[in-house]
Amino acid sequence: MSYLYGISPNNKIKATGSKGKYLFFKNKKCLDLSFASGSLILGHTSKVFKKSIKSINQTGSNYSLLNTFVEKFSLTLKKIYPEFSKFIMCATGSEANMKALRIARAITGKKKIAMISGSWHGSVDELLYSSHDDMSKFQKKLSNGLVNYRNTILIPYNNIERSLKILKKQKKQIAVLIMEPIQQSLPLEQSEKYIKEIYRYCKKANILICFDEMITGMRLPQFAVFKKLKITPDILTFGKIFGGGVPIGIIGLKKKIEIKLNKSKNAVFFGGTYSFNPLSSYIGLNTLGYIIKNKKKIYQKLEKLSDYFTKEFNNFTYRHNIDVKLIRYSSIIRILFTKKKTMNKIQKDENEFKKTKKINQFKEYVFKKNIFLSKNGAIFLSYENSKKDIDYILKIFKSGLKQYLS
Ligand SMILES: Cc1ncc(COP(=O)(O)O)c(C=O)c1O
Repeated sequence: MSYLYGISPNNKIKATGSKGKYLFFKNKKCLDLSFASGSLILGHTSKVFKKSIKSINQTGSNYSLLNTFVEKFSLTLKKIYPEFSKFIMCATGSEANMKALRIARAITGKKKIAMISGSWHGSVDELLYSSHDDMSKFQKKLSNGLVNYRNTILIPYNNIERSLKILKKQKKQIAVLIMEPIQQSLPLEQSEKYIKEIYRYCKKANILICFDEMITGMRLPQFAVFKKLKITPDILTFGKIFGGGVPIGIIGLKKKIEIKLNKSKNAVFFGGTYSFNPLSSYIGLNTLGYIIKNKKKIYQKLEKLSDYFTKEFNNFTYRHNIDVKLIRYSSIIRILFTKKKTMNKIQKDENEFKKTKKINQFKEYVFKKNIFLSKNGAIFLSYENSKKDIDYILKIFKSGLKQYLS
């Protein structure tokens, strides 16, 4: 009997610990394919994490006060993302997004928020919506307990014509367009064209743009999608990997946004008991230091393993005529249970809907064979993984596909 609500009230399996590439359950040791929703790029209990935790008697846990650890951390953030002049520390990614919306409204005086349907921005009430279909104006609530947010405007991912049409109609009322440039629900390289076009339009129409790079920040060899595409958003939110395994959320502001914020007549509130957390800053700083020092080795390995995984998987489903494929953006990977053209989450859900039972059977089989695939299906590799792990995962995936999806 449990009195806890975690990711969802229906969670059935409970982790009992973790080490390296493994997650432990009561009588089981599983290869982890989630790595804490993509936040543990170095794996569980990494050397740098253990070393940092051992020396926390230097930092203590929290002071709710500006401190030297967070200051040092911000200098490293500035080196990684020199495009931003100010960093605002938060306890989680959701908090960072919530406050990013607040900043945008404060400096523009506008109410509406535009977002891309199918994106995940965390537990932010006004972003917990998606569209019913590509053409629909009607919102679908992703949670009970929400009111109708008339100020949330949804645009369809990878449908530039329709997206621009919606934006053009309401551009004067939009405070900011927030986007998860590469969605973890559909990590596709082809989306880059759409991202660039939306960015270009927002610049032209004078709409602020915020990239939520919670997943992609430090996951790519270029350290962010905006860097890879050479388009800097006005506001950047990030977290996950930056915390090195402990809670964090960060907002980056471009200089012009910082200046506007400073000129704002009324104060904009950012405080929080854990906002300037010295522990997250210290572990995050050490983690970033390790990643930067070993950048070449880490990202080459992740790219090579992800590429091998994808090619082998897709060769297999092609040869056996199985209607499933693996898609990836860097080391963000997902099984798409259809080969039909799928450019956004609505199409994905539609294409996979009829196979729900078989997909669940496949997932249960994979877990039985000691591989942990998270409930939302996103796959992340870590620096702990080896080719041997990928070969084992491929072996299990292939036999699962043959049994349940061929
Ligand atoms: C793109 C994106 N934004 C925001 C969040 C929310 O971050 P957190 O869970 O730290 O609140 C997540 C979490 O998965 C995310 O993937």
